[in-house]
Amino acid sequence: MKEKIEKYLEEVASFSPANMEEIEQFRIKFLGKKGVINDLFAEFKTIPPEQKRDVGKILNTLKQEVQKKINELKSAFAEAEQKHFDKDLFLPVDTTLGSRHPISLVRNEILDIFKRLGFNVSEGPEVEDDWHVFSALNFPPEHPARDMQDTFFVTDDILLRTHTSSVQVRVMEKEKPPIRTVSPGRVYRNEAISARAHCIFHQVEGLYIDKGVSFADLKQTLLYFAKEMFGEKTDIRLRPSYFPFTEPSAEMDISCKICGGKGCNVCKYTGWLEILGCGMVDPNVLELNGIDSKTYTGFAFGMGVERIAMLKYGIKDLRLFFENNIDFLKQFETEL
Ligand code: PHE
Repeated sequence: MKEKIEKYLEEVASFSPANMEEIEQFRIKFLGKKGVINDLFAEFKTIPPEQKRDVGKILNTLKQEVQKKINELKSAFAEAEQKHFDKDLFLPVDTTLGSRHPISLVRNEILDIFKRLGFNVSEGPEVEDDWHVFSALNFPPEHPARDMQDTFFVTDDILLRTHTSSVQVRVMEKEKPPIRTVSPGRVYRNEAISARAHCIFHQVEGLYIDKGVSFADLKQTLLYFAKEMFGEKTDIRLRPSYFPFTEPSAEMDISCKICGGKGCNVCKYTGWLEILGCGMVDPNVLELNGIDSKTYTGFAFGMGVERIAMLKYGIKDLRLFFENNIDFLKQFETEL
């Protein structure tokens, strides 16, 4: 019996558990009701009296060693856990704060400029119906923008908006002129992703409807915007263009702020950079939206926020706005 106990003593001495669970199993094995120690004490009763002294001694030692081992191991584990906990608590905190995305910064700046001119901000759904994106804006049924090639359709009638002009339709539905609103938001077009195009981008579109609104008001408003956004020295020019919902329509360029109009590779040596589309609201659009086109006139404009941000910060690849690369985003940290 003595030899058996000595073997157990060795086992106790070399026991090295990996976790608390193993300590508990060890405890049950030795100190449990049907455990080794109880068994040994039962056996102890049956041995000849002359052996009792020796065996009793070593058996008591085993019991103490088991208890000691368990206590030691438990406190070692608890301490390790505590240390781990302390380490987490006192670990130097990474104090890098998040910052606004450049698209948010530029969008807010655009909105602030128009808010100063008395425009309010309106928003609407990204999943729209044909009426709000196309029909109410005088798009002919065969217009290419309605094609699957350009538009993401959900059903024949439901689609992802291709511009935030749809929000202007919603404003005209609800409100009577005078209307002065800017509509920011995400838009979707089925385009191959490249340095210059993406299937998702952001727009701010504007609408002003009142009695006697003229093309001169449009031009003056956009000149003010260009100077506020790109600096006092900025010039604008309007080139005739076509949109189904405006007549006359124009595209607006600003003088290239990289070369000051002299010509460089950013403006492709023209001295001008295109930044937005605009025009006088087509009377058809007013009538389609329940506004008397004999009493009221209006202008509208729409711009891509990514495009403005690229020009403002000299960013050459539009995809950077969508990649969430921390090193890229960090550069805008100081601006709020
Ligand atoms: N909705 C046009 C676009 O998405 C922009 C625009 C708005 C043009 C208002 C003229 C007037 O390209």
